[in-house]
Amino acid sequence: MCDEKSLENLEKVVEGAVKELEEMKDSSELEQWRIKYFGRKGIFASITSSIPRLSSELRPAAGTKINSAKKQLTRMFEEKLNILQKKKSPEVDVNFTIPGIVPERASLHPITLVSREIVAIFQKLGFGIHTGPEIETDFYNFEALNMPEDHPARDMWDTFYLDEKKRFLLRTHTSPVQVRVMQKISPPLRIIAIGKTFRRDAFDASHSPVFHQVEGLMVDTGITFSNLKAVLVFFLKELFGSGVRVRFLPSYFPFTEPSAEISISCVICDGKGCQTCGNAGWLEILGAGMVHPEVFRKSGVECKNITGFAFGAGIERIAMLKYGIDDIRQFYLNDMRFLRQFG
Ligand code: DAH
Repeated sequence: MCDEKSLENLEKVVEGAVKELEEMKDSSELEQWRIKYFGRKGIFASITSSIPRLSSELRPAAGTKINSAKKQLTRMFEEKLNILQKKKSPEVDVNFTIPGIVPERASLHPITLVSREIVAIFQKLGFGIHTGPEIETDFYNFEALNMPEDHPARDMWDTFYLDEKKRFLLRTHTSPVQVRVMQKISPPLRIIAIGKTFRRDAFDASHSPVFHQVEGLMVDTGITFSNLKAVLVFFLKELFGSGVRVRFLPSYFPFTEPSAEISISCVICDGKGCQTCGNAGWLEILGAGMVHPEVFRKSGVECKNITGFAFGAGIERIAMLKYGIDDIRQFYLNDMRFLRQFG
C-alpha cells in the first residue's frame, strides 16, 4: 500500500483531514476524526505500517513526510479541541486580570439628599429615626390605623396586595410604623420614619407606583395640637426657608382626630399664584392630626392622659418643590444628566 504513489496520496489525506477538521462542530465529532486518522487501525497506522515495504532509499524521506503530516494534524486537532471546549464553557474566556469597567458616577440622589436633610432637622428636635417593613400586613397598614375591613377610607389608598386573601400588601404609607413603634416603645416618644411606599397609581408626571414618605409621631402626657403646630412650622421653615408661610386646614384621616392638611406659601411665586400652585398661592405638603384613641388601643398604649400627634408627607413632592423638578418620573429614570445636577 505504501509506495511512492501512496506517499503522494498523503498530501490528499492531509488535505481531506484538514477540511473535515474545519467542519467539526463538537468534541464527539472530533473524537471520531481522531480515531479515523490516529486510531490503532486508523489511516496513519496503516500508512506507517507500510513503510518497511518501501525501497530502502525511499524509507527515510517517507518517514519524515509522514511524521511532519502527523505533527501538523495533531497540532490542528489540539487547536480545534481547545476552541470547541471554550465554546462549551464560556467561563474559560474570563480574564480575571482585565481592569474592571468603572461605573458612571453622578452624586447622591435628590431623594437621599432631601431625606438626610429631613432627618437632620428632626434630630435637632430630639426625634429618633425608625424604619418598618415595606411588606406589611393588613393589620398594620389599615386595621390598627382605625380602618377595619370594608372601611370606606381604605379607598384612599390604591393597594398592591401580595396574596389572594389580601393579608399581605406593599405598604401604602409609612403610618404603619407608628403602630410598630408604639408596640415596642412606651411613651414618651418622638420619632420619624422615612421609607418607600407603594400605590397602584399611574406612572405619570405627578404619580409613581413607588415613592417615599416621612412619618412623624410624638406621644406623651399633655401633647396638644399646639405642639403639632410648633414642630411642623419649625420643620417647614428649616426645610423651605424662614420666609415660608404655613397654613393649617381641617381635613380627614381615619387615624387622627382632629386631622389637618398643611400647606406652605408657594415656593415658586411666593403666594402670588403660578402654574406650580395652580394659582392658589399655596402648596399642600403634609397630612397630620392628633393620634386617634383607637390607634393607641390597637397599638397597646393604654396609659391615661396620653395624647400624641402624627404627620406624614411625600418626599418626592418636597424634593420637586425644593429643586424645581416638574416630573416625578425623573427620580426613577437614572438619567445621568439629571442626577449629576445634585452634586
Ligand atoms: N398616611 C397619610 C397618607 O399616606 C399621610 C398622613 C396623614 C400621615 C395624617 C399621618 C397623619 O401620620 O397624621 O396619605
